[in-house]
Amino acid sequence: MSGFEVSGGEMGWVVIGASRQVERNRCRLFPLPEQRESKREKERIGERETEEREYTRERERESEGYEAIFINNIVDQIINRVLRPTYWNVAKHPIGIQSHVQDVKKLLDVGGNGRRMVGIWGTSGIGKTTIAKAIWNAIAHEFEGSCFLPNVREGSLVQLHETLLDKVLGKNWKIQSVDEGISVIKKRLRHKKILLILDDVDQLEQLENLAGDDWFGEGSRVIITTKDRGLLDNREIELIYEVKKLEYNQALELFSWHAFGRSEPPKDYLKLAQRAIAFADGLPLALTILGSHLRNRSIGRWQVILDGYKGEPYTHIERILQKSYDALDDDAKEVFLDIACFFKGGNKNSLLGIVPKNCIEVLIDKAMITIEFNHRILMHDLLEKLGKDIVHKESDRTRLEFPRTRDEPCGDPGITPTPGSLLKTMSSFTREDLGHETFCQNFGKVSPVN
Ligand SMILES: Nc1ncnc2c1ncn2[C@@H]1O[C@H](COP(=O)(O)OP(=O)(O)O)[C@@H](O)[C@H]1O
Ligand SMILES: [Mg+2]
Repeated sequence: MSGFEVSGGEMGWVVIGASRQVERNRCRLFPLPEQRESKREKERIGERETEEREYTRERERESEGYEAIFINNIVDQIINRVLRPTYWNVAKHPIGIQSHVQDVKKLLDVGGNGRRMVGIWGTSGIGKTTIAKAIWNAIAHEFEGSCFLPNVREGSLVQLHETLLDKVLGKNWKIQSVDEGISVIKKRLRHKKILLILDDVDQLEQLENLAGDDWFGEGSRVIITTKDRGLLDNREIELIYEVKKLEYNQALELFSWHAFGRSEPPKDYLKLAQRAIAFADGLPLALTILGSHLRNRSIGRWQVILDGYKGEPYTHIERILQKSYDALDDDAKEVFLDIACFFKGGNKNSLLGIVPKNCIEVLIDKAMITIEFNHRILMHDLLEKLGKDIVHKESDRTRLEFPRTRDEPCGDPGITPTPGSLLKTMSSFTREDLGHETFCQNFGKVSPVN
């Protein structure tokens, strides 16, 4: 069997190893020459050789059958694993993720019969989306089609239907209404084994309109992340994974990676680090932001900053976020607000043309934004909310406001935007630059050049 060339470590190894196995099967049954002594013996050997050759040929045919199946499986895996582009960046310094993944996988019973819905439940910033991404990376290749719908809370149902159909069926679907979306999904996906992740669901209506009990094929799995346990109960979802706060050691490790770039604090910072993680109260988002905020600062500065939290309730994550924002310089603050209001989900390269690069770097450094594999800018919803609240409080309203309702069509001329700092430049952005959803959410009410 000739080598089946696949670039890429793990896959290449599997293929080469398998081809060697097939060759061994083929060679195993040939007779040894010293067995052919006398004529009679030779005749007997001749008969036996014929039988053995026959047998060997049969084995060859069999192994070729296995080979074909085997190669097909490998091609499927390559298509799923290598050619499917989405592979989420889980977290800069992941802590305890594998154990979450194992636990959720047990609830999911991937490969088992029937259909299942599993809820991942916990407070904001606890790591639900992070776990969902890690699960996706681990199992998405085992399904015929898969779709990760981030921020369901913010999207319109029609857009979400279109995205689901696009991701699974690979066309540019145009859906006119929620009813139409449901009927197309039921018709086209009912025989497909799919993985659907609905991230950050906050309304029963979203669950009911995005994933009915028997909409998808046998073996399908739906994962829902939410802050609202009641939603899962209402939908009678019994398989629920509750995300718990990090334990002390894990919290210290996550904080230390962000604050010191290593897994534990230097001795002279230990007491201060303990104070800091008490404020963060085991919440990964708070640990990440606070650690990044304190990085590269002197002991004296740490004391001043931590003293600033005195009297604050420990669990008050908003205060931690607010103080990180307050500590930014004016330019970085502006860019933070622009991202919170316009560019969340947009393409980093587009933003680079109009805001200073170093401000983006500062925000990444302070863990206030992250950049996904496809250059999309991500910002946690609590930080987005902080940014929008700040803008609302600004008396001169320097940015556009974009009040909108779910399923409001893009381009609805209902509300006139207030000119903002980015208004002049934004007409040069396309849907492609910003991502359709972001574009519609943020620019739907003006007339950008397409
Ligand atoms: N187990 C973890 N290890 C490291 N970082 C984490 C972990 N869980 C969450 N984070 C970080 O905490 C932040 C918030 O996590 P996220 O999953 O967005 O929370 P949620 O979806 O529950 O609001 C992100 O920056 C993420 O990288
Ligand atoms: Mg989330």
